[in-house]
Amino acid sequence: MQKSIIFLVLPLCLSSSYSAACEGVESDSQCAAYCYGVLNPCIASMGNLQRRVEACEAAVAIARIALNDRRLDNFGTSTNLQLENQNTSQQLLTHGTAMGRKLEENEIFQQLGSKYYYIEKEEKLNWHDALDKCHKMGGHLASLQSQEELDRFNNQLNGLNRYWIDVTNQFNESEFVSVTKGSKANFLSWADGEPTKDGECVDIRTFNGKTTMNDNSCFANLYFICEKSIEI
Ligand SMILES: *[C@@H]1O[C@H](CO)[C@@H](O)[C@H](O)[C@H]1NC(C)=O
Ligand SMILES: *[C@@H]1O[C@H](CO)[C@@H](O)[C@H](O)[C@H]1NC(C)=O
Repeated sequence: MQKSIIFLVLPLCLSSSYSAACEGVESDSQCAAYCYGVLNPCIASMGNLQRRVEACEAAVAIARIALNDRRLDNFGTSTNLQLENQNTSQQLLTHGTAMGRKLEENEIFQQLGSKYYYIEKEEKLNWHDALDKCHKMGGHLASLQSQEELDRFNNQLNGLNRYWIDVTNQFNESEFVSVTKGSKANFLSWADGEPTKDGECVDIRTFNGKTTMNDNSCFANLYFICEKSIEI
């Protein structure tokens, strides 16, 4: 699977003329648990938004592959499945943006503070599918950078429900990363007693007028929050 990731990331980097930044991808045997280790050097050297968008798309595709890998680990390896997944990820890279732009024009994202979010309140998805869905909508799972940003959801969420955000520690148990940013999460605000290590993906919930984070099984079906801005 390592090969297909290189295959996906390298052309992206090369096409952005950042091949130098991406040298060493092959030798990075951990592949930074697929995502941020490979992508971070690319993102760091990207000046303009278009390149960041591309990087974000790559991050989504990689996260997707990583998750599928995990499933394969769990359920046994199948060549067909691997091919299928590879195919989907490539399609995602090719067609994701166009579809996203279209939906974006429908103004389904609402402004909260300086950022634009879409709060899904009808369809519950696992973390991986939520990641994918946000991408198809032209955004990414919400990447919350401060308590102020988190507090903007205090009156927006149904307190009985949890909502996926872009944080996960599935690539490295001891480090929560923002898959949007492709590196360690800047900001974590856990609910009392959390994280309990009962899962590797992070959701938020409003309880007693306060919105906080919680770790949860990536396979749980929850609502989710997409964000339109790509401030990484
Ligand atoms: C890959 O996608 C194409 C286009 O949707 C499809 O025709 C083909 O069967 C897919 N291949 C695999 C291995 O899933
Ligand atoms: C996992 O994260 C920890 C804490 O940031 C770090 O020390 C460690 O090197 C990481 N492991 C891998 C394999 O990247």
